[in-house]
Amino acid sequence: MMPHPPGLFISLEGTEGSGKSTQMRLLVSRLRDSGYTVAENQEPGGTAIGAQIRRILLDPAHQEMAPMTELLLMFASRAQAAVEIIAPALQRGEIVVSDRFTDSTLAYQGEARGLGFDLVFAAQHLALGSLAPDLTLCVSLDVEAALARAHARNQSNPSGAGESRIDRQSLDFHRRVDAGYRRIASLHPGRFRIIDGSGEPGDVAQRVWSLVSPRLPSASH
Ligand code: TMP
Repeated sequence: MMPHPPGLFISLEGTEGSGKSTQMRLLVSRLRDSGYTVAENQEPGGTAIGAQIRRILLDPAHQEMAPMTELLLMFASRAQAAVEIIAPALQRGEIVVSDRFTDSTLAYQGEARGLGFDLVFAAQHLALGSLAPDLTLCVSLDVEAALARAHARNQSNPSGAGESRIDRQSLDFHRRVDAGYRRIASLHPGRFRIIDGSGEPGDVAQRVWSLVSPRLPSASH
């Protein structure tokens, strides 16, 4: 087995409207304020190539996209981020924080689209080898309430970006995503931690920090 690189790899997960992206911003700021060098990644996206793949994946016009195409494009974006962002940052001893990673593919394509976890594990092996987060924090809110929040936000979005193809799936789809996350938590109780996303963002951030801080190396100022 390859030795673990010196950095720390954290991913954030959650259903639509759970507050995950807010928590990502708060966590990255707190880490930087504490003296850590942080590399950020977003899935799908993160790199210039990934951003183009993201556009294809989320375009509401692409209704005909097959679940397998969706799965492979998610991993195409991730393979590029692994090489361009994640592996080099970990080698430099930095902290990598990724807004979503392979657990999203397990929950969305494996569970909610019905492709199954085994297929996702096979694609993961092909695309990433042994690269995996050390710690994953999944922000959890009642699915219906979170979805309502996401819809309201998307409708008032001044950029007119609107809802993505995947955001537009049914409530039942998003419930299956949530069930997928719970299944991952039962498979990987040490790495994958579900965080109560209710209450003020600052309170949720405190819950996040209480799980992150014990894993941190001492900061090099
Ligand atoms: P975001 O809204 O958190 O940026 O995520 C983009 C959308 O892509 C969201 O609906 C979740 C979905 N997604 C998947 O279906 N599978 C994946 O592997 C990833 C990373 C995201």
